Amino acid sequence: MSDRIDHLLNETRRFAPPEELARASATTAELYERAGEDRLGFWAEQARELQWETPFTEVLDWQPPHAKWFHDGTLNVAVNCLDRHVDAGNGDRVALHWEGEPGDRRTLTYADMTAEVKRLANVLTSLGVKAGDRVAIYLPMLPEAVAAMLACARIGAVHTAVFGGFSPSNLRGRIDDAGATLVITTDGAWRKGKVFALKPTVDEALREPGHGVTNVLVVKRGENDIDWVDGRDVWYHEAMADAEAEHVAEAFPAEHPLFILYTSGTTGRPKGILHTSAGYLTQTAFTHRHVFDLQPERDVYWCTADIGWVTGHSYIVYGPMANGTTQVMHEGTFDTPTPQRPWQIIERYGVTIFYTAPTAIRTFMKLGRQHTQSSDLSSLRVLGSVGEPINPEAWMWYRDVVGGGTTPVVDTWWQTETGAIMISALASVTTLKPGSAQVPIPGIEIDVVDEQGSSVGEGDGGLLVVTSPWPSMLRTIWGDDDRYRETYWEKFGDRYFAGDGARKDDDGEIWLLGRVDDVMNVSGHRLSTAEIESSLVAHESTAEAAVVGASDETTGQAVVAFVILKQRFADELTVEESEDVLRKHVAAEIGAIARPRQVFIVPDLPKTRSGKIMRRLLRDLAERREIGDTTTLADQSVVDAIQSQLR
Ligand code: WT7
Repeated sequence: MSDRIDHLLNETRRFAPPEELARASATTAELYERAGEDRLGFWAEQARELQWETPFTEVLDWQPPHAKWFHDGTLNVAVNCLDRHVDAGNGDRVALHWEGEPGDRRTLTYADMTAEVKRLANVLTSLGVKAGDRVAIYLPMLPEAVAAMLACARIGAVHTAVFGGFSPSNLRGRIDDAGATLVITTDGAWRKGKVFALKPTVDEALREPGHGVTNVLVVKRGENDIDWVDGRDVWYHEAMADAEAEHVAEAFPAEHPLFILYTSGTTGRPKGILHTSAGYLTQTAFTHRHVFDLQPERDVYWCTADIGWVTGHSYIVYGPMANGTTQVMHEGTFDTPTPQRPWQIIERYGVTIFYTAPTAIRTFMKLGRQHTQSSDLSSLRVLGSVGEPINPEAWMWYRDVVGGGTTPVVDTWWQTETGAIMISALASVTTLKPGSAQVPIPGIEIDVVDEQGSSVGEGDGGLLVVTSPWPSMLRTIWGDDDRYRETYWEKFGDRYFAGDGARKDDDGEIWLLGRVDDVMNVSGHRLSTAEIESSLVAHESTAEAAVVGASDETTGQAVVAFVILKQRFADELTVEESEDVLRKHVAAEIGAIARPRQVFIVPDLPKTRSGKIMRRLLRDLAERREIGDTTTLADQSVVDAIQSQLR
């Protein structure tokens, strides 16, 4: 048990916030104290930063596992993200610097976005969408995607965004589960130098009858040829031209549903995670402001997530726009037309806050620092990471190569279910530890417990739980409250079970160790995939690594590693030599128990379109089982390439 933590425990580097950031820390640091004294009072204060139509009088109504936050208050979420800033005299502030993959650009101010959303709200109403109705948004990274979400919010419709890479059957499954009556999509979008058609996927999804969709609203982007269903399909630009410019927003109760977002469970059907209005907006805005030390008047913020995932919802649309942030939005992939693209964008717009995922960082590492360093990145002052544990090597590379050796990196832990950041350093306050998410944000209560639910001691590992309700928590699983109870609340009573393993270090700070389904048990010893990956990636020859626990006759589970070598080493060493070196390296770094049974040198790793390594699929490969569902895989050919390496 203690072996597995040693590698991360040995990480002793510490980085205090730079001077310019620390200036704000006096007031920000006080937030912990304030929240500690009076947690509900603290959240009420944060909620009052929003513009309410009817102020709330009650903060929390908690009937485990159902929470209502600020529930007797009313507000309009879109007004909070748009009109409020225009009314405050900031209509000329840029909301979005949008850059298309072919290099076309659009700049939209808060006044522009407000006008767009008002018109679109009228369009939705004219198409029969009413408060409480569900709208499926199947759009790539276009300003219209932001507008679509906010227009739904404005009229109280519930959006369910579906990532643009999903298949027709996945899209249909979500449309049916949510009971959507309208789909908003586009003809096509740019990806890797080509137009990638989206409308045909919607047509295919809706081909079989039995759905409730009456209209498909189509944004023109790719200019590709598409089929058209008269009476059902409506061009966005035509409907907008016909719509009224004025729209008076109605206020909705704090607990009015805002969106449903589907996320894959461990098995079977995706879960429709339901988020509601005021609590969600309170916590996304609060965390966006304080985790990144946001100064809305001067910062240029860029979150590279896709709008179809929760990070896009919370940290492109709702949190940043509630804060009146100027942000960059980018269509397409980072390596098109060249791997210098992201860095050129940072230089062009003077991006100050950059928020991306460890998988992207490791890809940048693999490509080599010369691409990153070809642009002037001196505008950057805060870097963020999200999506999976970030290994200390990637963290250091991010800080050194992207951040010029001085820029703080905040590792933010949260989930679709939590709605907003839960565990993270605050850029202006926290002394950073590479590879650790560190501390719950003010107002959030977290613990690490053993299987019986008892809090583990410092230095020990266990399961991550949230011990009290939080404003942006999921309210239920859409249409399946039983599953909501079972998945998150059955295990530990009224504490939320996150499904992640974690450990407390000697300061009581938190290190995430990956999903508990990725925690292996080898000869009765618990090993973390994240930890072994971290060790592998720390080796000079490794570009990227994924580890799975494959079933093993003798040891229960065995460690199987899939490794991409840096080109230089791939040229120099034989496959056998590399495998041997890496097995020894892990054994030396973590302990013999962690030595991989097998190391497969592979040309690529199977990833979902959101960039998560598909460990389940690797496990299937390692165990030579029939490969399960691969519909979410970004590149199907990767599997064939790996299979040809497995001897
Ligand atoms: C799972 C949630 C959070 C938005 C994107 C993913 C893992 C997320 C971290 C982090 C370690 C992390 C967890 C979590 N995860 N961020 N900073 N450190 N692990 O949302 O698809 O709902 O996935 O991602 O395992 O449970 P999601």
